[in-house]
Amino acid sequence: MAQPYSARSRAIEPFHVMALLARANELQAAGHDVIHLEIGEPDFTTAEPIIKAGQAALANGQTRYTAARGLPALREAIAGFYDQRYGVNVDPQRILITPGGSGALLLATSLLVDPGKHWLLADPGYPCNRHFLRLVEGAAQLVPVGPEVRYQLTADLVARHWDHDSVGALVASPANPTGTLLSRDELAQLSQALKARNGHLVVDEIYHGLTYGTNAATVLEVDQQAFVLNSFSKYFGMTGWRLGWLVAPPEAVPELEKLAQNLYISAPSMAQHAALACFQPDTLAILEERRAEFGRRRDFLLPALRELGFGIAVEPEGAFYLYADISVFGGDAFAFCQHFLETEHVAFTPGLDFGRHQAAHHVRFAYTQSLPRLQQAVERIARGLRSWQG
Ligand SMILES: Cc1ncc(COP(=O)(O)O)c(C=O)c1O
Repeated sequence: MAQPYSARSRAIEPFHVMALLARANELQAAGHDVIHLEIGEPDFTTAEPIIKAGQAALANGQTRYTAARGLPALREAIAGFYDQRYGVNVDPQRILITPGGSGALLLATSLLVDPGKHWLLADPGYPCNRHFLRLVEGAAQLVPVGPEVRYQLTADLVARHWDHDSVGALVASPANPTGTLLSRDELAQLSQALKARNGHLVVDEIYHGLTYGTNAATVLEVDQQAFVLNSFSKYFGMTGWRLGWLVAPPEAVPELEKLAQNLYISAPSMAQHAALACFQPDTLAILEERRAEFGRRRDFLLPALRELGFGIAVEPEGAFYLYADISVFGGDAFAFCQHFLETEHVAFTPGLDFGRHQAAHHVRFAYTQSLPRLQQAVERIARGLRSWQG
């Protein structure tokens, strides 16, 4: 018999929602109108100026590798964006362009995690974080968080959960699946808590730009030693182009560059050239209009779901997710999702995909559909609740 596949690969769980998605696709193929609220991706296609810049790059033969750190012009444009949006001075030398935020996560975990070392993560949280830690033989220390801490790690939780193998914490603001933010003060307190323990702080800022009624603070406002993950996927609407970035302290950059050379050589060239158009005023105007549209959707869906009895204790201020407690309806979240898919053809994600804490009682809705579709979804959900026997 052949040797088994690696234990690290076997330890990684698939996305449970994929089973639901497969069923949703079957239903769709059979002619049913499925409303997709399970997908963590903007429904808008990439803004026109970015597409045009990508087309021009291809026409001009920009099809080769770039430097492992990425195009200097793009790194400078990102540094300019930090200055303009946050008033923060970031040396472009500290910015590495990566294949998606996922590539930045791969670099950060490869650099910072030794076998057996523990990283504090909020549960619920983005599942790939703990999987990346496992791939580099580290371990996620899942810290259960609820509405009382707005589903975020706090300095106090770091103090309580830190053990002799802990070396860092990875947080996200805005967070997936809960959409909550960390304020500048909370980021500063976390930074202090980590520094006091000689630990690293990694902040996932991938949903920056997608906040409603407020702006997210970057950890770089309070801690220039923190590692920041960011992406062109969400606010910039470039999921399929696979482009993100990592901001690192200056001394880490040569080591990260070496990792980038080995792991993927460079991020996609066409995507990097296209992304140069992201920071032009005409593009930013389109992105801001889309942000406003996401805000309108949130303002519709949040009260509509609460009205139906879903428990959304904390008002999410960012990303495009609502994380809802379904305890009042009874039953298990996975069966609940199946019920709505089968009877009402509305797809959303069970809590199990985001961790263990209270996972069986929670579901995530992504408002990545137009307002009329969301209205239809709410009508169907209201009807489906009447036939749900938890
Ligand atoms: C919290 C979070 N981090 C990172 C990613 C990775 O995204 P990408 O690799 O497209 O930048 C996602 C994608 O959904 C996410 O939700």
